Amino acid sequence: MAPPKVYKNLINGEWVASSSGRTFENVNPANTQELVGIFQKSNKQDVDDAITAAKEAYKTWRLVPAPKRGEILFRAARVLQERKEELATQMTREMGKILDETRGDVQEAIDMTYYMAGEGRRLFGQTTPSELRHKFCMSVRSPIGVCSLITPWNFPMAIPSWKIMPALICGNTVVIKPATDTPLSAYQLVRTLEEAGVPRGVVNYVTGGGGEVGERLMIHPDVRVVSFTGSTEVGRRVSEACAKTFKHSCLEMGGKNVIMVLEDANLELAVDGALWGAFGTTGQRCTASSRIVIHKDVYHEFVQRFVERAGKLKVGNGLYPETQVGPLINEAQLIKVEQYVEIGIKEGARVLCGARRLTGGEYDRGWFYAPTVFSDCTPAMRISQEEIFGPVVSVIPCDGLDQAIEFGNGVIYGLSSSIYTRNLNNAFKAMRDMETGIFYVNAPTIGAETHLPFGGAKQTGNGHREAATAALDFYTEWKSVYIDYSDKLQRAQIDT
Ligand code: UN1
Repeated sequence: MAPPKVYKNLINGEWVASSSGRTFENVNPANTQELVGIFQKSNKQDVDDAITAAKEAYKTWRLVPAPKRGEILFRAARVLQERKEELATQMTREMGKILDETRGDVQEAIDMTYYMAGEGRRLFGQTTPSELRHKFCMSVRSPIGVCSLITPWNFPMAIPSWKIMPALICGNTVVIKPATDTPLSAYQLVRTLEEAGVPRGVVNYVTGGGGEVGERLMIHPDVRVVSFTGSTEVGRRVSEACAKTFKHSCLEMGGKNVIMVLEDANLELAVDGALWGAFGTTGQRCTASSRIVIHKDVYHEFVQRFVERAGKLKVGNGLYPETQVGPLINEAQLIKVEQYVEIGIKEGARVLCGARRLTGGEYDRGWFYAPTVFSDCTPAMRISQEEIFGPVVSVIPCDGLDQAIEFGNGVIYGLSSSIYTRNLNNAFKAMRDMETGIFYVNAPTIGAETHLPFGGAKQTGNGHREAATAALDFYTEWKSVYIDYSDKLQRAQIDT
């Protein structure tokens, strides 16, 4: 194996070491003896330099015609496509999820980049009639300025692309801080943009911790927009920091997503959906199906089939073709899962499978945990209420659609929900009543596509959406324009 590479920050078009002189290690969570790379432990000065570069570059980038900006994105998408397999393999080494999933992650970045490249030829505004005879009215989208982008480790290329691409196509410049567990995937994305011809200073990349780098990104006076995906706890901090100078903020935070299985569901489909919804990405998705609410008439059959399959899932290194569930991202996350399992047992939920750390052989080198099913849960238990972000699912019985909806909505979060039923009326009723930003019928709570808005209600978000044209609304500001071509004073102008 080649010696680990030292990766630098990208500031004003130059790859530079942090002025702190410090670095941190990025290790493979499936084998912590394997070093993926060494990254810069940046400080306030680095962040300030990056923001200054982004502010300067904004002066010219905002004037580059959007279709031209789109051409650069188009080239970047093509490079990502060519390198997909290599990038997916690196991502599995960096964060653990299985190759099929890291391919999906890179594909989401490709899709988003193409999608936003196309928006360069749209970025539609509106025209509307004026109240006056000789007056023209329209509203146009304007870029906003420097955007701070703070991204998580579970979708280490997809989520950076959800933020960078719409920000750029709208004419903004960015500073991105990827999660310290996964700086390599974001590095590759940024490298691709550089290769595609993004001018210097338009995209800046600064690695390091939330305390030093993240915090500065949220409070710097020259930053106008902050987009954050991560925990609700940190999201609250971002929101408070942004409030001081009224920066725009887009927050994508926790989830406690429900799958509702009604008595008329196709159970085979529901079991399969619940399995991948709950244990895909080792449960480390904000969209993970972490609660399954099941009609009592099919409860026992569902649980039996579900546990049988969950117990057989192959946990291991995501690079091996037979692996179905990879490791957790780090030790802290593993400890958090262990603590929640303890809590669940104390609360009286029944452990049907899992509930233990996996040890022995290769397991001892990584952060592996057995897929865990708790049955006979009540909706009020902490394991039914709080986001665990691991391979743990709470199964809750219910007596019908209304109760399923009540339980489903009975959490502080509102990201994604799903129903399995063959009854169209039930599906539509649940669609109307679920307080979530995303809703699925006969599919699990995961699997968002880039041309639909992504985000959640209640304490999952702050009302903004990512992806789709909704992202353009976040990364632009409306300018309403009135053009008077009468050459004389028109009456309504005096009245108003
Ligand atoms: C997240 O977990 O933060 O819909 C995002 C999905 C993925 C995105 C999840 N495409 O599950």
